[in-house]
Amino acid sequence: MRTHYCGVLTTANIDETVTLCGWVDRRRDHGGVIFLDMRDREGIVQVVFDPDTEEHFERADKVRSEYVLKITGRVRARGEGTVNPAMATGEIEVLGKELEILNTAATPPFQLDEHTAVGEEVRLKYRYMDLRRQEMQQRLITRSKITSAIRNFLDNEGFLDIETPILTRATPEGARDYLVPSRTHPGQFFALPQSPQLFKQLLMVSGFDRYYQVAKCFRDEDLRADRQPEFTQIDIETAFLDEAEIMSITERMVRELFKTTLDVELPEFPHMPYAEAMERYGSDKPDLRIDMELISVDDLMQQVDFKVFRGPADDEDGRVAALRVPGGATISRKEIDDYTKYVSIFGARGLAWIKVNDLAAGVEGLQSPILKFMPEAVVSEMMQRLDAADGDIIFFGADKARVVNESLGALRIKVAEDQGMVGDGWAPLWVVDFPMFEDDGNGGLTPLHHPFTAPSCSVEALEANPSQALSRAYDMVLNGCELGGGSVRIHQRDMQEAVFRILGISEEEANEKFGFLLQALQYGAPPHGGLAFGLDRIVMLMTDSASIRDVIAFPKTQTAHCVMTDAPGDVNAQQLRELNIRLRQSKEEPKAG
Ligand code: AMO
Ligand code: AMP
Repeated sequence: MRTHYCGVLTTANIDETVTLCGWVDRRRDHGGVIFLDMRDREGIVQVVFDPDTEEHFERADKVRSEYVLKITGRVRARGEGTVNPAMATGEIEVLGKELEILNTAATPPFQLDEHTAVGEEVRLKYRYMDLRRQEMQQRLITRSKITSAIRNFLDNEGFLDIETPILTRATPEGARDYLVPSRTHPGQFFALPQSPQLFKQLLMVSGFDRYYQVAKCFRDEDLRADRQPEFTQIDIETAFLDEAEIMSITERMVRELFKTTLDVELPEFPHMPYAEAMERYGSDKPDLRIDMELISVDDLMQQVDFKVFRGPADDEDGRVAALRVPGGATISRKEIDDYTKYVSIFGARGLAWIKVNDLAAGVEGLQSPILKFMPEAVVSEMMQRLDAADGDIIFFGADKARVVNESLGALRIKVAEDQGMVGDGWAPLWVVDFPMFEDDGNGGLTPLHHPFTAPSCSVEALEANPSQALSRAYDMVLNGCELGGGSVRIHQRDMQEAVFRILGISEEEANEKFGFLLQALQYGAPPHGGLAFGLDRIVMLMTDSASIRDVIAFPKTQTAHCVMTDAPGDVNAQQLRELNIRLRQSKEEPKAG
């Protein structure tokens, strides 16, 4: 029907007759002349109808916001003084000759301009309207470009796109499974994949060598700004490449993606061991745009009487660390109280602080609720270690190392955001040398990644000291966001069995759940490894969106609910019977039938 998109018309089209199809963004009546802003996915153009075109003018007079129109007219330059530099098509307008109303529209539930604040519930309920907004159109267009740039890169590098099942068995990635009851196997359930992990490994056993998939993954976990219950991975696996080669090829992919999509040249990707990331940033996904670090002061605190600090300083699993905020002495008591509340979310039992008013004046120049507990010599050595300067505030955390890292790591980011201390640009890195396992909180061990990750030591060394073993895993981090992660995998049965043993998975359970994998490892499994990127997170960062929901066409809310379709929903008694399911408690009596 159309000859052009609205948003692409320029002065080059002047005097051309064009036909446009789209929506009425705005209609204005200016003393006998009607202005229609016509919108489609490429943008907006102004169309003018004057009374000369009688029949069409009358129709133009009737249209309302969001009516669907087909318009034919002539492109002309805007008159002097009416050029709109804020508009991509602001130098021209279309003089309307014909207007056909393709459909009318009820009054929209909210204004589609960017100035109107609308609650997210309403936006999600009328998502098809929300997606008409230019900002949302742009995000999804960019998403499509990103996906296709990634596909192009991987296709050119010889990767094969192979699909893996959605109805499958549990794949342990650390979240709860979404289950699907089976009608043909009463009482049994499929699990939706948390990732294609095991299938991609099996494809390596089959010899496909380089695999990728734009794969939907499902995880029933607590949702956050960067997490959805169903999300998309760029899932990659290779055989005969070691970790350095896998990191190099995927880093090149991300580099090219940024270059082609945003014209951004990413800086070097430093490789940082996990232990160093935790020590310096309290996080395994440090935001390197923030120029503040956690500094350990355990040795100094072993010399003080203050129990709150002395205890963790003496404890092997404890940590006392300081976070110096340059220029932070202006932070008010009220803000300190808020930060104290904030760190308590992570289990911190307090947030000690020292304001540095006048360093030259010694202890007299400091202001703090904890100074009275510390010998002057300790304080002065600490100020030197922290490189303190007048006008700084120093925050302290003292507890189990995990609590201190989590709370001060999060505080570092919060303070930087509040005080405008987050640098511009892009700060990528690889985090490497992860431990194989961490405490599961019940005296056992749990994998830091997934249980198919290869350790960087022998079976014997692993079994002798599992909690000290490092893995061959790597995460790509960008601006404090974990973009992707992967590892070299276990490709030998005895190693895989050893890891299951360490995780407390019995031989019986291992065979029941992963027998197919253990078997496959016996039939000539090549050394292999890979990685998965969170596509939604990549798009979020590249479009500078605050929420993952803004880069997904039809996302779910924080409670994993689709407001528009009202999913999940009830099913009828007949369906349940077929599935051999009886609900423990129904909210209301099932309707007849
Ligand atoms: P992992 O669990 O680290 O690894 O996931 C890989 C990447 O997927 C993204 N991601 C998510 N994005 C949105 N919502 C979620 N709920 C969510 N969970 C994860 C993150 C993350 O870095 N099979 C392994 C990969 C491998 O070893 O090859 C895996 O799934 O960006
Ligand atoms: P208190 O002696 O409990 O009043 O604590 C003195 C100061 O130490 C207060 O500013 C507390 O917020 C802080 N504090 C208490 N426990 C901790 C802790 N575990 N880590 C850091 N600071 C703490």
